[in-house]
Amino acid sequence: MFKELEEINSRPASFQFYTAKELWTDEHTSKKMLECHLNESLDLSSRNKDFIDRSLKWIVSHFGIGVNTVIADFGCGPGLYTTQFAEKNADVTGIDFSERSIRYAKETAARKGLNIDYVCQNYLEFETEKKFDLITMIMCDFCALSPTQRKKMFAGFYRLLNVGGSVLLDVYSLNAFDQREETSTYEYMQLNSFWSAENYYGFLNTFKYDEEKVILDKYTIIEEARTQTVYNWLQYFSPESLRKEFEENGFKIEEYYSDVVGTIFSPESGEFAIVAKKS
Ligand SMILES: C[S@@+](CC[C@H](N)C(=O)[O-])C[C@H]1O[C@@H](n2cnc3c(N)ncnc32)[C@H](O)[C@@H]1O
Repeated sequence: MFKELEEINSRPASFQFYTAKELWTDEHTSKKMLECHLNESLDLSSRNKDFIDRSLKWIVSHFGIGVNTVIADFGCGPGLYTTQFAEKNADVTGIDFSERSIRYAKETAARKGLNIDYVCQNYLEFETEKKFDLITMIMCDFCALSPTQRKKMFAGFYRLLNVGGSVLLDVYSLNAFDQREETSTYEYMQLNSFWSAENYYGFLNTFKYDEEKVILDKYTIIEEARTQTVYNWLQYFSPESLRKEFEENGFKIEEYYSDVVGTIFSPESGEFAIVAKKS
């Protein structure tokens, strides 16, 4: 038991393990995730409905989305953004590795008679001949990627963007990082059966990597028949660190906002959004 507890409480190197696929695509957790996406009052897998409505309104007007716009939404989930882009007659591609979410998104498109290209794939591997005017990655998914994965993502964005095209994404800020604390908790059926339909005990160890500005929420889920560990990494950014990273990868950040609703940038915000172009 002591050895197991030591393992549970051990701190890996920053971004040492990538378990996003298990988190989002497992038979049980993907079902819970979809319920959260579709719960209009929650800010968990997707943001709440009011936020998304305001965000869509801003994106559509800011980027002039219409019949001639070609958009790719990375991590599109069940299509809360893609559906509405397509309703503005844009040419829309949604990429997500959750089969359950893509199935839901495709059913919505079929029901509404919308022609949306949904690709069920790891977006780090996404390739197409198509070029896009706008690439979106919404709800701070960029923060879940390691520095090496972000480099790969930038190369993909660069290859996929039309000349003059834009990337819109949001990230967590250093203010949010400062508010995080290292903790360790243990709970029976942690997160109300989120992890499994079976009985389980859940440990949550939160580690702060001060130099890298990274937070790890490490979940260890112990059932009678299996133990699983899920690593939820988040990279936090300052406007300068994000600008530097974009510039090192051939992009120029042209606009900063507090969020993807287009709220004027505030240094106090817990997250911020950017619009970048190929430089
Ligand atoms: C926080 S949710 C946001 C969903 C959507 N952008 C929204 O705001 O409604 C992140 C989404 O990204 C997907 N995702 C995470 N990592 C991925 C990866 N490497 N490849 C493809 N999809 C990924 C998840 O399945 C999930 O649907």
